[in-house]
Amino acid sequence: MDIRNLIDFNDMSLSEWDELYKLACRIKRSPAEFRDTCRGKIMATLFYEPSTRTQMSFQTAMMRLGGKVIGFSDPNASSVSKGETLRDTVKIVTAYSDVLVIRNPIEGAAYAASLYSRVPVVNAGDGGHLHPTQTLTDLMTINELKGRTDGLTVGCCGDLLNGRTVHSLLRAMARFKNNRFVLISTPELSLPDYVISELNAVGVENGNSFVKVSTLEECISELDILYMTRIQRERFHSQEEYARQSGVYRLTADKMKLAKPDMAVLHPLPKVDEIDYEVDDDPRTMYFEQAENGMYIRMALIAQLCAKERTGRAPAYPIQTEPFCHNPRCISNHEKYLPKLTKIVGGEERCCYCDAAIK
Ligand code: NCD
Repeated sequence: MDIRNLIDFNDMSLSEWDELYKLACRIKRSPAEFRDTCRGKIMATLFYEPSTRTQMSFQTAMMRLGGKVIGFSDPNASSVSKGETLRDTVKIVTAYSDVLVIRNPIEGAAYAASLYSRVPVVNAGDGGHLHPTQTLTDLMTINELKGRTDGLTVGCCGDLLNGRTVHSLLRAMARFKNNRFVLISTPELSLPDYVISELNAVGVENGNSFVKVSTLEECISELDILYMTRIQRERFHSQEEYARQSGVYRLTADKMKLAKPDMAVLHPLPKVDEIDYEVDDDPRTMYFEQAENGMYIRMALIAQLCAKERTGRAPAYPIQTEPFCHNPRCISNHEKYLPKLTKIVGGEERCCYCDAAIK
């Protein structure tokens, strides 16, 4: 694998993805073969936001490869609470470790970290933006269940605005051929524009299409995959706004009766009230298997990234104190030294940190 960091699934070519998937399948079949792959290596996990699955699956993945783990899951117990910049924390921690895994509530934080890191950086979720290792998990599960990641009808239901797992998954699946995406949400929680523009550009080029609907009942019978998500309470400005959106979508046994016998229900978890308890016992629900796959695909990723050489001192970037991105949730508006880095996507200038359009 040529990539050094995994900030966005789209950092990877599809053949690199294929190689990673095959490695994860080998690890899943015979984990003992890999128990010394990362012996002597250290992974740092900087979790500025709560996590159960992602953090534990990264940690256990490294341990199962024979490596060790350092890090924090509560930034208040680190120098961050003394006001240390992200850049300084990254420089220090990557002097101690061989791979850095970071989760942060601010969009673009992992990309910002990668600028100052001497070791590979993995984005374990940056605010409501992206979550590429969940996508690895999701694609592995879809591949196992359906034998392919193209020609599928995939429904995504819930908080499509703030759900980073959906953003990453759709942007990734847009690169495969002939998928049909059914976007099930309220108008307030529909996909952000950078994901829509990806579906319109890359997606359409690959023969994919999408439709927006407002109920599960009207589409569930067509779906091969139903990807349920939680309403992301922590990303709302107020409790009232959250209360208006919560509880709108609920997968019940009655709705499952309308679905295909081989439709698979996925969920990045944690789930709150969007899936009835009794649905958990339906053999079409695959989210617990999906979470287990997360460990194997992360083992494959860590094994590949730990094999990279550490670099010398990170390059110096020009300090940019003037704001250049209009997204208040973008890391460039929180860490006021980050260089102005933009890219052109579909003829439009976008922020390299958070993908918002530069106006
Ligand atoms: C997701 C996340 O953190 O974005 N969880 C996970 O990593 N499996 C989904 C969520 O929190 O709703």
